[in-house]
Amino acid sequence: MKKHIAVLAGDGIGPEITDGAIAVLNKIGEKYGHEFTFEHRLMGVCAIEATGEPLPQHTIDRCLASDSVLLGAVGGAVNDPRINNLPGHLRPEAGLLKIRAALGLYSNLRPAKLFPALAGACPLRRDLAERGLDLVVVRELIGGTYFGERGRGEENGVPYAYDTEKYSVPEVERIARIAFELARKRRKHVTSIDKANVLESSRLWRETVHAVAKEYPDVELTDMLVDNTAMQLVKNPAQFDVVVTSNIFGDILSDEAAMITGSIGMLASSSLGATKRGLYEPIHGSAPDIAGKDLANPIATILSAAMMLRDSFDLPEEAKAIEDAVNKVLDEGYRTADILSEGKTQVKGSEMTKLIVERI
Ligand code: IPM
Ligand code: MN
Repeated sequence: MKKHIAVLAGDGIGPEITDGAIAVLNKIGEKYGHEFTFEHRLMGVCAIEATGEPLPQHTIDRCLASDSVLLGAVGGAVNDPRINNLPGHLRPEAGLLKIRAALGLYSNLRPAKLFPALAGACPLRRDLAERGLDLVVVRELIGGTYFGERGRGEENGVPYAYDTEKYSVPEVERIARIAFELARKRRKHVTSIDKANVLESSRLWRETVHAVAKEYPDVELTDMLVDNTAMQLVKNPAQFDVVVTSNIFGDILSDEAAMITGSIGMLASSSLGATKRGLYEPIHGSAPDIAGKDLANPIATILSAAMMLRDSFDLPEEAKAIEDAVNKVLDEGYRTADILSEGKTQVKGSEMTKLIVERI
């Protein structure tokens, strides 16, 4: 199989971790007789520096011409003078939102599970951790508040600003279907998140999810208010299988879900739309404080590459080979700094990649 992959390494640790994923994909290509080619393009602070905008049109065109997109991370430090005073639409984050919309990637899957070898890293009480944690946040990615009308004005000399949450029935239907289909392949339980006790958009969300649920009588559906979900995630995370949310609620809850696994450096994600062309990225950010020191954990990006093989290229065996190699390296006791615990062997990011490549 021949596949062409656009690589948006981005900022901070982005280039180090995408290098890791590329090395792993090259090894897979060698072993299974596939040809993966890579094309690096700019997005984020690096693109702002080179072109004045976070996502040049050329990058969008090249992503559309590729079979799939691998993304590192975008964004600078809180006080980065290169982005500090930029208007919202020229910030690096705007580039990320724009590429998602340009590629029509409405469905963002963020799996959060405890890796058995890292169970000790879970920050929850031991009896909670022992019940396990294996959930997927299905986040609607190109609607809601992050894409709604926004603005500023002034009333009687008092400045104000607003953002709007708007969802149409088809937007909710398609993300709900993704969640129910996924649940069918898992433990057959969907929890739908809303704030239907207050928000009209949430009431439409809830009605629509219930209508779609009729097509999936074999899947159990639970409604949960978003504030209660934030609490339930730390109280009893084992109750969740597939969690379907709006863009903004999913943004917030997926960080919480990732944190309770204790290993945000391990978690991958996929974003897909109507075609097989997806965007695959680690859940964590650009970590400018450790960039260029070979400290970053490449595993989340390497596991994102595995998701690309499975979900965009229909190569489940190759995807599993990567996941098995990662588990093997962890079982052997190798750890990057972020997941280090007593008695384990600390390795640099590039050494972690090498160990994984050797075990494929
Ligand atoms: C994420 C990030 C982005 C988001 C930002 C950087 C625009 O927080 O992928 O979760 O809010 O979607
Ligand atoms: Mn986020």
